[in-house]
Amino acid sequence: MAMDLYAQMMNLPVGYIVLDTQFNIIYMNDYFRQSKSAYRANNFMAKKCYNICNGGFRCHECIVEKTMKSLSSERASRRVVQPDGCTFNTEVITLPFFDSKHRLQSVMEIVIDKTEEEEFQSSLEKTYLLLIGSITKLLEKKDKYTAYHSANVKHYSLYLAKYFNFSEADQKKILIAASLHDIGKVAIPDSILQKPGNLTDDEFEVLKKHPVRGAEIISKVKHFNDIADIIRYHHEKVDGTGYPYGLKGEDIPFMAKMVAVADSFDAMTTSRVYRGALDINYAVSEIKRNAGTQFDKDIAGAFAYLVENEVIQPIYIQN
Ligand SMILES: [Fe+2]
Repeated sequence: MAMDLYAQMMNLPVGYIVLDTQFNIIYMNDYFRQSKSAYRANNFMAKKCYNICNGGFRCHECIVEKTMKSLSSERASRRVVQPDGCTFNTEVITLPFFDSKHRLQSVMEIVIDKTEEEEFQSSLEKTYLLLIGSITKLLEKKDKYTAYHSANVKHYSLYLAKYFNFSEADQKKILIAASLHDIGKVAIPDSILQKPGNLTDDEFEVLKKHPVRGAEIISKVKHFNDIADIIRYHHEKVDGTGYPYGLKGEDIPFMAKMVAVADSFDAMTTSRVYRGALDINYAVSEIKRNAGTQFDKDIAGAFAYLVENEVIQPIYIQN
């Protein structure tokens, strides 16, 4: 899977290298190779990064090492001094990749030259959005259900946003969050995502990590913090029995509670690997029954009203 992603990102205007868990360089794209801040050496492959850029000593506060410990995306500033004395300020973002047994397989290090601060801000956002696009495509390939599901949740969330009179900017926010709400599943093994039967407790614990993983990816985009929060909290329940944090009521962002209702409605009305699609009336009755425990009362009421009055029509039912 990781090699798929490296290939997909090949043409992105962003430099990156990929390291194995022993700090050996196993991939480097042309953009990085040709950039001014690239490591200067004739042959990098299979060499340890710190042998090339730090005289054989592990870097102080090494971001790759930090990623290996936290198993999540990290971000840091790094100053590169080339042998000719030229200095470049770079921003480094890492992404961990896991094998099918959820063991760390490699770490991607995206290196952005931020010598020109303004150029950096816009290029970081653009490239990161492109990167998110690539990750989304990869997730769609990995899990077809998630692709349909994300489109449906976006569709339902828009009606809710209109019902609650959201501004254009807030509508945009919830649409992006709804489209990307399960992006963290890119880090979940196929054996769990595609499993036809019930998940074991351990497997469910792994699946429960996807909101946080998704939020980590999205939060690296400037101005996307609210969107990251919607993704982070979309499996919380108002009575505090949700995950990952067990937040209650008002502590859960309103937009995350909207995505939660849209998410559950679509999960019920579409076929899953472990069961067929449920009846729409039944799905609405479940939303109503769980208002005040799983769902926010106002949002659940609004959603039921919109479906019962055929404003919301589940047009993407997969059988
Ligand atoms: Fe989810």
